Amino acid sequence: MTWEQLERSCLECKRCGLAYGRTNVVIGRGSKTAPVMIVGEGPGQKEDEMGLPFVGMAGELLNLALESLGFSEKDYYIANVVKCRPENNRTPTDEECEKCLPYLRAQFTLIRPKIIVCLGNVATKAMIDKSFQVSKVRGIWYSKKGTLFMATYHPAALLRDESKKIHMWEDLRKVKIRLDEGFDT
Ligand code: URA
Repeated sequence: MTWEQLERSCLECKRCGLAYGRTNVVIGRGSKTAPVMIVGEGPGQKEDEMGLPFVGMAGELLNLALESLGFSEKDYYIANVVKCRPENNRTPTDEECEKCLPYLRAQFTLIRPKIIVCLGNVATKAMIDKSFQVSKVRGIWYSKKGTLFMATYHPAALLRDESKKIHMWEDLRKVKIRLDEGFDT
């Protein structure tokens, strides 16, 4: 599948009910050759309006963390498990996630990132292991089929509980260190 085909499929998608409440499909943003893919849950109101992931308050916090740790925009691509906004920002259902995951898998196949960072429980369960809780597994590297995975808190959780901020910073710092070490070996 090419990026064009993927984008067309997403824009025409009616696989689940979320399609009927959306203003825009939120596919992704960032470098399409990035070594790091960052995966969130699903678009919020601002993301739905703008058609881009993590452009609201949670996104500002995420950008601040990435910038302060020295990530550059070419280092990452950001996407969500579901590409259309769940009404009132509710958590997407397992069925909605399942219906949408082929698009995220296609993004993964096109980008082939070395590292996937999962923000929050929805992304962590969808990408690493259904049984995982982000509070228990955050900051730990998991390797699957040659790709490294790390879960950390969702930035929206940091807006509700400031004490989690330090943990997300620590986790993303590990990602930056790994990135700086390179992937030649
Ligand atoms: N929360 C998410 O999980 N994704 C976004 O794009 C915005 C907020």
